[in-house]
Amino acid sequence: MTVEDSPDAPPPPVRSRRRPAEPGRQDWKSWPHYDAAGTGFRGYWYPVTWSSQITDKPLPFTICGEKITLIRDGGTAYALHNRCPHRGVPLSEGDQQFPGTVSCPYHGWTFDLPTGKLAAVITDGPGCRLTGKVSVRTYAVEERLGMVWVYIPLADEEPHPIDSQLPEELVSNAFVMGGRIDPRGGNWRFACENGFDEGHAKYLHRTALWRLFKPMPTWNITRIVPKGRWIFRVQDEVYWEAEFPGVGRWSNKRWWKFQPPKETFNIGNTGKADRINPTIEAQEFPGFASLSMPGVLRIAYPNFIHYEFYVPVDEDNHRYVGVMVNFTEGWDTLRFYGKYLGAIRWLFHGQFSGQDAWMVDITDAPPEKLYRPDISLTAWRNLSEEEYGKKLAGAGTHEKEA
Ligand code: FES
Ligand SMILES: [Fe+2]
Repeated sequence: MTVEDSPDAPPPPVRSRRRPAEPGRQDWKSWPHYDAAGTGFRGYWYPVTWSSQITDKPLPFTICGEKITLIRDGGTAYALHNRCPHRGVPLSEGDQQFPGTVSCPYHGWTFDLPTGKLAAVITDGPGCRLTGKVSVRTYAVEERLGMVWVYIPLADEEPHPIDSQLPEELVSNAFVMGGRIDPRGGNWRFACENGFDEGHAKYLHRTALWRLFKPMPTWNITRIVPKGRWIFRVQDEVYWEAEFPGVGRWSNKRWWKFQPPKETFNIGNTGKADRINPTIEAQEFPGFASLSMPGVLRIAYPNFIHYEFYVPVDEDNHRYVGVMVNFTEGWDTLRFYGKYLGAIRWLFHGQFSGQDAWMVDITDAPPEKLYRPDISLTAWRNLSEEEYGKKLAGAGTHEKEA
């Protein structure tokens, strides 16, 4: 018996008839497209895996809830729906019996890679009547940033050019990059919201080794500024310590860390740099963190840019694609690889980002009660709601019933 059940317990307090208004939004009803996008926004390109992973041996992936197999033939990567129309066996379990095709392992139905058409049925002889009449769905494939990208269509529309969806600075500048792709638990929207989240980095990551010598602010005054197809977090005021009435003082400053900068800065999140890489400077980013559809985060530091692509798998899983880019050429690239493999890969893409993975996996919302810094979340939801609404209107199509 709990205290509440006990006959001796005092009666519950009488509530006023008018319930006080709940501050903030409790659910995602204000963003219906976003709310319905548990398995991702369709009509976009998504990075799936490293190009080097895709060979003549088909591999299985799930993107936006769609089961896909990727295979390479004659240097070109192909994506097919990973289900043999005969009895539903995954084609990724099969292999290549003829150039330009993939054969299902069960009865040898053999599909043409570019078109998905049934090209032969090995166990029915050369005269099989189904040949050319049955097909599996194919997906448009491109390779960029050393990765294979697949277009997940809304209906059966032609994909837009992938370059129009990539961060602009990655389309025509020379750069070197390192990165990691991890399957992670948690819905892709939690990963995306975490990436652009104004509030958490200063607190959650205060113990990250990546921040061992650099203090993190205690709190900021932040604005969201749209520019092109991106929204930016712009820091107007940065506070390195604070006195909380009745509770005490809090700061991430420590005697062994560098002193925080005096001025407010908007490239990098730990201090103002003396020199900024010219390619990064030329972008004139209003703020160091920016986000665009369909879930692409860009964090600009003085000498490199970190990107995160949140790739929807299903309601409970996503693929984390983290890429560190240095706009440099020639001998400098060796320095970058040394730095990336020696430190960044495990400090930043490893432990630091592992703290995010932990939170994304255990976030459970809605319901939620947002606070002032969550303007970053609501701005992103507003952006995605608007962009996706435009996309659906442009495609003359309606969302599939969830
Ligand atoms: S299930 Fe694929 S060939 Fe029979
Ligand atoms: Fe984080």
